[in-house]
Amino acid sequence: MLPTASDPSVRWPYLKRHEMRIVLVTGATGAIGKAIARQIAGRPDTEVVLACRNAQKAGQAVREIVETTGNRRVRYELVDVSRKSSIQALAERWRGPLHVLVNDAAVTPRRRQETPEGVELQLATNVLGYFWMIQAFADHLERWAPSRVVNVASYWAGDLDLADLEFRRRHYDNNQAYRQSKQADRMLTAAFAERLGPRGISVNACHPGDVRSALSNNLGFGGHQTPDEGARTPVWLALEPIGHEQSGKYFEQTQAVCCPFASDRESVNGLYEACLRF
Ligand SMILES: NC(=O)c1ccc[n+]([C@@H]2O[C@H](COP(=O)([O-])OP(=O)(O)OC[C@H]3O[C@@H](n4cnc5c(N)ncnc54)[C@H](OP(=O)(O)O)[C@@H]3O)[C@@H](O)[C@H]2O)c1
Repeated sequence: MLPTASDPSVRWPYLKRHEMRIVLVTGATGAIGKAIARQIAGRPDTEVVLACRNAQKAGQAVREIVETTGNRRVRYELVDVSRKSSIQALAERWRGPLHVLVNDAAVTPRRRQETPEGVELQLATNVLGYFWMIQAFADHLERWAPSRVVNVASYWAGDLDLADLEFRRRHYDNNQAYRQSKQADRMLTAAFAERLGPRGISVNACHPGDVRSALSNNLGFGGHQTPDEGARTPVWLALEPIGHEQSGKYFEQTQAVCCPFASDRESVNGLYEACLRF
């Protein structure tokens, strides 16, 4: 019998029928991340792991997702993505397959803050958090290739200063630090796509949507889209064939958009090398 469009093996042609797709989502207690996790859990044969820092919020998010989707294969793992050691511990205790990593967790503190390791918090969470997650889970993803990474970035991006990534010389402005971090996410997408492509791992970035959240409120923005609308493009990249057919690309509203940051190879490699030093 020919497969139909609702057959999961059509959406994910590399898996055998009834094999699970395992998806790890950071930021899954937040506005967009929770919608991403819920939409993915609502698809057939998917298992979703919420990577969260707060056990109470994580447990609540798992219960909500299980109730609304009926998918009982939803659980959480605790991790602080602003800390390399916490990410490494999660990767070390990870057992079994991993097919998709969605990097979504981010912060926009109004005053400059540092992690206990002394790294400026937006750089640590929004940039190094993505970088360290990809690095730490690359071997897992390779084992289950073809696999993929989706980096939730933004169209609101710019102001990256490679010589002052932590706002030690510049006056800290949370909007400028955020724009820098999202530019970096788009650049690192290109850097990792090149390095991980030969290992069967595709890496893409996207703007989700404009959604009211703790993050957007800190920047003084509201948001005219629902979390589900914001989750649409990241989920599309996480599950549909496009997320494997393309790599190193940046998408808005399910359309590839030319990214000037990603095409500046010298800066992309400079940023990658800078991240390796943390
Ligand atoms: N909202 C928008 O309009 C918009 C527009 C463009 C791009 N984006 C991007 O979309 C993504 C999600 O944003 P959002 O608006 O949904 O933000 P949000 O509601 O504030 O959610 C942020 C999430 O990140 C988690 N997080 C923060 N620091 C963490 C850490 N150190 N360790 C583990 N988890 C941590 C938060 O956990 P807690 O719940 O524990 O705080 C929360 O789950 C971000 O990458 C953002 O840049 C958003």
